[in-house]
Amino acid sequence: MLETQLEELRRATLAAFASANSLEDLEGARVEALGRKGSLARITKEFGRLAPDERARLGKLLNSVKQDLETEYDAKERRFEETALAERLANEWIDVTLPAPGVHPGSLHPVTQLQQEIEDLFTSMGFAVLEGPEVETEEHNFDALNIPSTHPARDMQDTIWLTSGHLLRTHTSPVQVRGMRKLGPPFRMIAPGRVFRNEEVDASHEHTFHQLEGMMVDREVSVANLIYFMKTLLSSIFKREVTIRLRPGYFPFVEPGFELDIHCLICDGVGCAVCKYSGWVEQLGCGLVHPNVLRMSNIDPEEWSGFAFGLGLTRLVMMRYGIDDVRQLLSGDLRFLTQF
Ligand code: PHE
Repeated sequence: MLETQLEELRRATLAAFASANSLEDLEGARVEALGRKGSLARITKEFGRLAPDERARLGKLLNSVKQDLETEYDAKERRFEETALAERLANEWIDVTLPAPGVHPGSLHPVTQLQQEIEDLFTSMGFAVLEGPEVETEEHNFDALNIPSTHPARDMQDTIWLTSGHLLRTHTSPVQVRGMRKLGPPFRMIAPGRVFRNEEVDASHEHTFHQLEGMMVDREVSVANLIYFMKTLLSSIFKREVTIRLRPGYFPFVEPGFELDIHCLICDGVGCAVCKYSGWVEQLGCGLVHPNVLRMSNIDPEEWSGFAFGLGLTRLVMMRYGIDDVRQLLSGDLRFLTQF
């Protein structure tokens, strides 16, 4: 009796598998026969009533039925999958000449690009690239640069003070101090970085911008050395020969101190709106390192001398690309940034 049921189950289920037209049909037939509440499970329950030798004989048959059905199910399932894949491959195609949609490769910020160019130039001339912290001590940012707390020059740069007594560095010059103490003379270094001032923000003022500092200390460093490096720097940035001039400029950490101008690149010095009809555009502050500054970082000014300069990377980028609003640079606006 059970034997006939098992043989009939095998026959009927194999027939159902054979006629299944979809994976769902196939799965339906499988559940009906082999599922937890399926025919095979039902038949198995009857086994309890059988004599031991009958049970052994029919058990074998049951296992062989089960195995047949599982094997056939797997084979048929695989066939369905292969057909589906073949169909997909036959119908799917792409036009490899179409531009890919939505691919927006990133690029370096224009300030970063200029910074890296200048780093390459200076490292090729034996300068180390140093970094310093953005949160600085009063000592590094002011005192060691010959700007004691009583000095009026502290008001030249509106400082953002932290409650801890630290400050956000107002210029990259504190890295000079770190450089002198870390490297010891003779050395050459540059230090690019972000600086912060307590400024009312408008088209030409930002509270956060980028500077690049440079310093060289050796025996008998003179203004002639300074001029040579500054001309090399500016010719490299503007990719042409530039004419420069030095005007006296006051920075407590250099003596003599200068403001360095270049001949206006827009009008070639004739006079235009960009140079405010003066023919010259201010570029950077520089000078020979003040003996006090050397001394405060344990360098003997009788033996060593040096030059230092600090330029506004942000402002240089604005000049280079004719950007007239400094706020664009930190805006993160992709319409602006993707132009570079
Ligand atoms: N630190 C000065 C500033 O931010 C620039 C400077 C650097 C001037 C080095 C002279 C020498 O204005």
